[in-house]
Amino acid sequence: MSNKKNSAVKMESIVSLAKRRGFIFQASEIYGGLAGFWDYGPLGVEVMNKLKAEWWNEVVTKSDNIYGVDSAIIQNPKLWEASGHVSSFTDPMVEDVKNGKRYRADQLAGVDSTDLNELKELLLDKKSPDGNQLSEPRFFNMMMQTWIGPVQDNSSVAYLRPETAGSIFTNYENVRETMRAKIPFGIAQIGKAFRNEISPRDFIFRVRELEQMEMQFFINPDEQEKTYEYWRNFAWKFLIENLGISEENLQWHEHDEKERAHYAVAAHDIYFNFPQGFKELWGTHNRTDFDLSNHQRVSGKNLAYFDETAHKRFLPYVVESSVGLGRMLLAVLTDAYHEEEINGEVRVVLKLKPELAPYLYAVSPLLKNKPGLVSKAREVYEILKKKYGSVMWDDNGNIGKRYRRQDEIGTPNCVVIDFETLEKNTVTVRNRDTTEQKRVSIDEL
Ligand code: GAP
Repeated sequence: MSNKKNSAVKMESIVSLAKRRGFIFQASEIYGGLAGFWDYGPLGVEVMNKLKAEWWNEVVTKSDNIYGVDSAIIQNPKLWEASGHVSSFTDPMVEDVKNGKRYRADQLAGVDSTDLNELKELLLDKKSPDGNQLSEPRFFNMMMQTWIGPVQDNSSVAYLRPETAGSIFTNYENVRETMRAKIPFGIAQIGKAFRNEISPRDFIFRVRELEQMEMQFFINPDEQEKTYEYWRNFAWKFLIENLGISEENLQWHEHDEKERAHYAVAAHDIYFNFPQGFKELWGTHNRTDFDLSNHQRVSGKNLAYFDETAHKRFLPYVVESSVGLGRMLLAVLTDAYHEEEINGEVRVVLKLKPELAPYLYAVSPLLKNKPGLVSKAREVYEILKKKYGSVMWDDNGNIGKRYRRQDEIGTPNCVVIDFETLEKNTVTVRNRDTTEQKRVSIDEL
């Protein structure tokens, strides 16, 4: 596991490793790709599944009062009118007046602000990256739109959800009733969300199709501070303890009023030391009763909660914990990425927490043209595969090359079957981080 600040990691190194080893590919690569869209390859999908399982287990399975849902990506568009996304889910944008290219105004100005007056002032003397004059900043709605059914007009417009949280709110009453849940309780969801980002960038950091892991915790308004504190700490601890991320690569960032989303009265992000610098990884937000009160108003359904002990009716407040899966993967890869010199040679090694590595073991016969070694290695491979599942068969190239390949994909243990195995039933096990080799009996593996 990593325990050092990894500030020297370059984005090109992560992108290149991710491509060459089958973690992440450009979407529609053979057609030149599509900005803001990425595909996860065989190894990427393994790590993503492990990240999701880790989060789900910690948030839902281990909890007594947090329930999961998996809702439709497209919902009744009234949901997004009530939630304020149709009117306010915007980013400030400027346009190159000559070639029409569009940019995030706050990014060009180098500030975390959505205040159009402030941005206008800051961009007054600035040119576009192509050296042309810029338009005045204005807001751009990031919801992705589609049409439902055969007629494409205003009445058939629908949106691909911009956050998974929306349909958690509309399922609040269903979950409360069916699970006989009492406040406080939570609802969690993992799933895709879509944002028409003005400038997707930094590999999988800012994309147009993303996957979120979100949890809304419904509480009595009196509990908001305590609950907010709890979920902030939860995120910090999860990154360190469950994912093995180095604490030095994490920072807190509190949103000021200008930066906060339209639904939040308080927001704390955990920033991670990505190759492009410290940037948002995980947000905790106090959304008050903003969402439930708006859904109550627009739908006409009473969403108030009756507290039987206090004989009181109130609209629950919500503390939200929200993290993007792709950003989490990028953080995990960046934190784990190391280049080390060993015997005058540089090796790339992913020091992933073993539980997150695509494979726990790689099994190799020392020589692939010796049938005795190969069949014994196959035997060991089958034993480990039955026991651990995530085991790779690797007989390509010489042993040195195999070790380098396994180091790059973060395999914690490489098991090699040699001539001594045939005599003594022992194998060598090479440790990824120390590169030390130990002889152990097959039964001990
Ligand atoms: N429901 C609250 C919400 O969606 P957000 O801060 O907009 O809040 C939450 O997004 C998390 O989703 C972020 O902290 C980030 O990890 C991830 N995320 C947001 N936009 C993203 C994008 N365009 N590309 C990748 N991840 C994104």
